[in-house]
Amino acid sequence: MSTPHNEAQKKDIAKIVLMPGDPLRAKLIAETYLEDAVCYNTVRNMLGYTGNYKGKRISVQSSGMGVPSMGIYSMELYRDYDVDTIIRVGSAGAISDSLSMGDVVIGMGLCTDSAYVSQYNLPGTYTPVADFNLVKLATEIMEERGVSYQTGVVLTSDLFYTDEKDAVARWKKMNVLCVEMESLALYCNAARLGKRALTMLTISDIPLKGEAMEADERRTSFTVMLESALRLAEK
Ligand code: ADE
Repeated sequence: MSTPHNEAQKKDIAKIVLMPGDPLRAKLIAETYLEDAVCYNTVRNMLGYTGNYKGKRISVQSSGMGVPSMGIYSMELYRDYDVDTIIRVGSAGAISDSLSMGDVVIGMGLCTDSAYVSQYNLPGTYTPVADFNLVKLATEIMEERGVSYQTGVVLTSDLFYTDEKDAVARWKKMNVLCVEMESLALYCNAARLGKRALTMLTISDIPLKGEAMEADERRTSFTVMLESALRLAEK
């Protein structure tokens, strides 16, 4: 058994998956934190690994960038590989003035400019939300570790470069915390299939001020979020 995008057999992937966007980040996570890590996918270089973290079997699968890519990989993990839980670990641009570089955001709910939800042909708007227990556990871990974090609404956008200069700023009046490009597909696929999802994001830039983190800082601050996500996966 395999899919058009994943050459793994069902048994190769754990029930819980950490999902960074970048394939090389998946490799780094597996090599740094997992014991006996085995690479199960190299199709399109969308690397995936399974190994043990403190005795718990965990997979790390890259999602690629954007809603379509996350839509494909998370759908296949949930539907074809019987994965129960996916935790996205990514970066985001701050929208709210209350966020600083390196802060962690837990995506409790999402808003979007993507048309992904239109596939469900619903008679109204739909609100994608994270799994409540994962939010609860994640916030407990953040408190324990003294991490500077916020929980709230995240914008999943299809547009990194956009014609309309202040498109992102317009979400500010609704107290949207930050912008990224993948979580919507993850939360919708989880809801549609009765699975669990959570997004954890590190603020890596402040687009409204034209500020971005240096590579070194990016690596260090990502580690705080990642180690919290691994602890969550371990529970
Ligand atoms: N991911 C990290 N920063 C981002 C931004 N400014 N916009 C969209 N996705 C991002």
